[in-house]
Amino acid sequence: MVKIQPKTLFVGKNILYLPTCHSTNEIARQKIQNEEFINGTVIYTDYQTNGKGLRGNHWESVATENLLMSLIINPEFIKVEDQFLLNILTANSIHQLLTTLGFENVTIKWPNDIYINDKKVAGVLIEGSISGNKLGPMVIGIGLNIYQKIFNNEKASSLLAENKDFTLSRNQIIEQFCEIFESGFNKFQALGKPYLLNYYLENLFGINQKRKFLVNNIEIFGIISGIDNFGRLELISENEKKYYDLKEIKYLFE
Ligand code: BTN
Repeated sequence: MVKIQPKTLFVGKNILYLPTCHSTNEIARQKIQNEEFINGTVIYTDYQTNGKGLRGNHWESVATENLLMSLIINPEFIKVEDQFLLNILTANSIHQLLTTLGFENVTIKWPNDIYINDKKVAGVLIEGSISGNKLGPMVIGIGLNIYQKIFNNEKASSLLAENKDFTLSRNQIIEQFCEIFESGFNKFQALGKPYLLNYYLENLFGINQKRKFLVNNIEIFGIISGIDNFGRLELISENEKKYYDLKEIKYLFE
C-alpha cells in the first residue's frame, strides 16, 4: 500500500487509519474534546457503522470501496460569521481534485455536494465549535465514492462508475486532496474571500438556470443566482431575490 505522504506543511502530516469505526467525524470530535489533536490531522477508515450525513441522514458506504475521512483544521483567521467559507474551500478543493484527475462535467451542488455528470460522487459534513468570537477547531468530514459500483440511489455515483479506467488508490487521492486543500487554505488566508467565491460560483451546479425546489412542502421554480454573505442559496423566484438555508429548501430533480 502506498504510504500517505503529502507535500504539505500541516494538512495530512498526521494520519490516523482505523479499519472500522462508528464515524470518523465523531472520532475527530472526541480528539478535539480531549485536546489531543494536531492541526491538519486526517482520520480515515474502511467502514463506518454510523456514518453521518447532512440533515441528520446516514452516510452509507460499502466497506473499503470509498474514501471516508475527516480532517481537523484550526481556522483561527476565519471569523465566526464567515464559517461557511470553510464549506466553500472544501467543496472547491474536491472539485479541483477531480478536475485535476481528468474528470469533466464536475460541479458543486449547493452547499457542498460534488457532482460528476449530474450524479453525486461526494458529500461534505463540517462540524465544529465556536469559542468567543472565533471558530474553534473544525472537523471536515468527506465521503467520496471511488470504486463502489452499485448504489440504491440513482443520483449517486463513483469515480470508477464515471470513468471505467480509473485506477488511482485511495491513499493517492488523500495525498492529492491534502495538497490541494492546504494550497487553497493558504491562498484564502492571503487573498481573502473573493478568490474562493469566484471559483465556487463558476462551478456551481445549475447556476443561472431555472430549477425546481421544495420549500415548506411546496414546489417552486427559481433561477439559481448565487449565494449571500451567510452562504445561503440565492434564488430569483417570482421576480424577487430569495435566500434559503439548508433546512429550508430541497432540490427536486426532474
Ligand atoms: C452528505 O450528507 O452529503 C455529507 C456526507 C459526509 C460523509 C462523511 S464520511 C466521513 C465523515 N464521517 C462521517 O460520519 N460523515 C463524514
